[in-house]
Amino acid sequence: MDLAAFHALEPLCWRAPSAHNTQPWRLRYERWAITVGWDPADALPAGDPTGRDLRLSLGAFVETCLIVAADAGLRLDWAADHDESDRRVGRLRPGRQPYRTPFRTADVWDRRTHRGRFTGGPDADVVAAVDAVARRAGGAVRAVPAAGRLRALLRTADRQVYADPAVVAELRRWLRLDRSGPRYRADGLSDRCLGLGRATATGLRAALAAYPALRPLGLPRLLAAAGGDPLAQGGGVLALVAPPGLDAAGQVEFGRVLMRMWLTLHTAGLAAHPLSQLVDVAATRDALGTLLDVAPERIVHVARVGRPVAPAPRSARRVERTGGGVLMRDAAVRVG
Ligand SMILES: Cc1cc2nc3c(=O)[nH]c(=O)nc-3n(C[C@H](O)[C@H](O)[C@H](O)COP(=O)(O)O)c2cc1C
Repeated sequence: MDLAAFHALEPLCWRAPSAHNTQPWRLRYERWAITVGWDPADALPAGDPTGRDLRLSLGAFVETCLIVAADAGLRLDWAADHDESDRRVGRLRPGRQPYRTPFRTADVWDRRTHRGRFTGGPDADVVAAVDAVARRAGGAVRAVPAAGRLRALLRTADRQVYADPAVVAELRRWLRLDRSGPRYRADGLSDRCLGLGRATATGLRAALAAYPALRPLGLPRLLAAAGGDPLAQGGGVLALVAPPGLDAAGQVEFGRVLMRMWLTLHTAGLAAHPLSQLVDVAATRDALGTLLDVAPERIVHVARVGRPVAPAPRSARRVERTGGGVLMRDAAVRVG
């Protein structure tokens, strides 16, 4: 397989989702393979200290690469080879036949995180379909009863997240609330994608700038409340449960499962709105474990899922496709 042919498809692969839209993946083209690694500058050490979401995002990217290559008829294989010190998760390399997947590049291109209103949640067939996806990797997808208990857990998780100055500083680094900002179209979480009106975005910018001074006055509580109640926006809540004892390489593999799960939802006309704070905060993850009767450490991801009322805005990427080539928005990113 001509690895250069894959290079031209890279912008499509960059449509993979990542926590805070940091796009942490980096590709290193070698003679016989493409190493998939990550840049620590795009990790989230405060919000994701264990690197779980980093590895899920890298796995989602790997799955996306395989789908895009297969749809172009390229025979690309994945060889997992996780090495923390070399900051790599494995290699894409020429295979005997194209990767077998029901998904197409168009699905990769159209899928979006949706934080807005859903008309309904996933029905039993859809839950069974995503559960089957997870089961093939030794996991499961479980519906979380979205009653008052879950709402209370979400409030607790939000407050705890906003009470940590390091997490707030990190979030601020990746928020893109200024539409004329240089990175608005490159990465991070934009006001549009977060569904914030202009006034809310301006208020949030001011509140975050004043965070150190206002923190003792209860700003964390205010910020948590400002996010509104996602559960009031409709849909159902699904948890992705991994097999016991999942190691770092297993988390990358589950990022691939997460991508297949989201694409399965997408092709059924549904979208996901992750609620990672429920997994990040130990107390709420424990409570979820009790609710679902699984060991809390097995819960790797939680999302609100449903049928969007309207399409979500498209999130930014550093790499775009131009007429015949690849446009890098960010000179700091090296691809190829
Ligand atoms: C592992 C992982 C965790 C995420 N956690 C959250 C989250 O807690 N809240 C949220 O609103 N979005 C979350 N997202 C969604 C990302 O912000 C989103 O993928 C990114 O902004 C790119 O947008 P897109 O999915 O529409 O392409 C998460 C995504 C991944 C892959």
